[in-house]
Amino acid sequence: MKILVIGGNGTIGNRVVSHLKSENYEVIIAGRSSGDVTVDMTDSNSIAAMFDTVGNLDSVVSIAGEAKWDDFENLSEEDFYVGIKSKLMGQVNLCRIGIPYLNPEGSITLSTGILADDPVAKTTSAAMVNGALHSFVKALALELKDGKRVNAVALGLVEDAYEKYKAFFPGHNPLPTPRVINAYIKAILGKNNGEVIRDY
Ligand SMILES: NC(=O)c1ccc[n+]([C@@H]2O[C@H](COP(=O)([O-])OP(=O)(O)OC[C@H]3O[C@@H](n4cnc5c(N)ncnc54)[C@H](OP(=O)(O)O)[C@@H]3O)[C@@H](O)[C@H]2O)c1
Repeated sequence: MKILVIGGNGTIGNRVVSHLKSENYEVIIAGRSSGDVTVDMTDSNSIAAMFDTVGNLDSVVSIAGEAKWDDFENLSEEDFYVGIKSKLMGQVNLCRIGIPYLNPEGSITLSTGILADDPVAKTTSAAMVNGALHSFVKALALELKDGKRVNAVALGLVEDAYEKYKAFFPGHNPLPTPRVINAYIKAILGKNNGEVIRDY
């Protein structure tokens, strides 16, 4: 099984990739500044070039995408476009451009997060983008052919990022790494389609 992981060197991505490699899956890592192939997910041409380079795949896993965090009163229109261009349209374009490269029964897994349902302060942009992706995944699943699937993984604050972000998430419990990995494994190897796989 050939799996492309965009963001495979990131905090969550490297855990998922290590697990997949330990299970002997063929994994290709894509990232903005490192990886087997580089890609800027805010740029459709870069995404198209990445798929051209890696060829057909059984699974595309996106564990990447950014949004600007700040008090709502500080966020400009341009600041909102950071999340729209990166996490939202970056992942929409991974589907739009990547689906033809998926083998039959192949899947795409996107990453969203807890903020869609349980936002904290400074996350109007990030929460909005996550919620939009949840609706997108449900609608896209209705149109996929050849047994292809699409899902979103929505996790709480992961234990590897807990120290960095805990001040933003008072009272939240860090999500243990085995549960982080398993949410992605469920999306990649399960039969789920059009689902938001939540763990928080
Ligand atoms: N951390 C958490 O607790 C948590 C919880 C729920 C959801 N999430 C979501 O999960 C995703 C990954 O989170 P993370 O904590 O693992 O982030 P991270 O450590 O910052 O890693 C992000 C990865 O994505 C890549 N990336 C970023 N922008 C890119 C772009 N424009 N084009 C291509 N690659 C790009 C980065 O590559 P470079 O390093 O080369 O830039 C990096 O490998 C994010 O969307 C985040 O919102 C995170």
